Amino acid sequence: MNIQIYKSNQEAAVAAGEYINSYVRNNPKAVLGLATGSTPLPLYAKMVKACKNGLDYSGVTTFNLDEYVGLPIDQEQSYRAFMNKNLFSHLNIDINNTFVPDGMAQDLEAQCAEYEERIKAAGGIDIQVLGIGSNGHIGFNEPPAPFDSRTSVIDLTEQTISDNARFFESAADVPKRAISMGVGTILDARACILLSFGTGKAKALKGAIEESPDVMNPASALQNHPNITFYVDEASASYLTKQHKT
Ligand code: F6R
Repeated sequence: MNIQIYKSNQEAAVAAGEYINSYVRNNPKAVLGLATGSTPLPLYAKMVKACKNGLDYSGVTTFNLDEYVGLPIDQEQSYRAFMNKNLFSHLNIDINNTFVPDGMAQDLEAQCAEYEERIKAAGGIDIQVLGIGSNGHIGFNEPPAPFDSRTSVIDLTEQTISDNARFFESAADVPKRAISMGVGTILDARACILLSFGTGKAKALKGAIEESPDVMNPASALQNHPNITFYVDEASASYLTKQHKT
């Protein structure tokens, strides 16, 4: 595990942005796994800036981790709308090569299986970007999350619904289900980077890095990944022991 701690989320985003942008520079047909939420926004700003400065994203393919079930994509809270607004519309990427699970699909099980197949057909994910939930979830894999799970329909926990209520008018408007890549799907990526910012994530991050891997903290599965880098700000690192702070 590679743990990089920065003074601020902006500094962490610069480092994570350099990693992704240089990967794309050297691998113009990169396959990136992407996340939504507040955490990756400064990273996406670095990708957009690099593209505006000439980095070519036209050959890149992306797969998002998750999408709410039953939220039409023209609603701004849908993860498809979020990605279009915050990233895809600012890159010279081919929108047809950006994949987000279809939470409006008639047959959700078939949609999950098809998503796995699409990832396989693209040759697998080179770099998966992750945030972390305050309960340790990655994607929408809520605890307890088996480490070999595949893309599936997930019932969101009350904790996640209340964490995500800030994007909706009220907690009652947050969808109760989502499609998410499984923990096993995430672990198949050739590299993973997890961004964690703020004190609200400090406990979950400590569990992910310093406690024995446990399905009650899905992010702890990453301890078994051969190429995982944590980009963390000081607030999020506040519970880590010294050993991981140097
Ligand atoms: C979103 C996702 C989630 C978020 C996590 C943190 O696609 O997969 O696991 O990364 O809920 O969300 P924020 O960044 O909003 O704190």
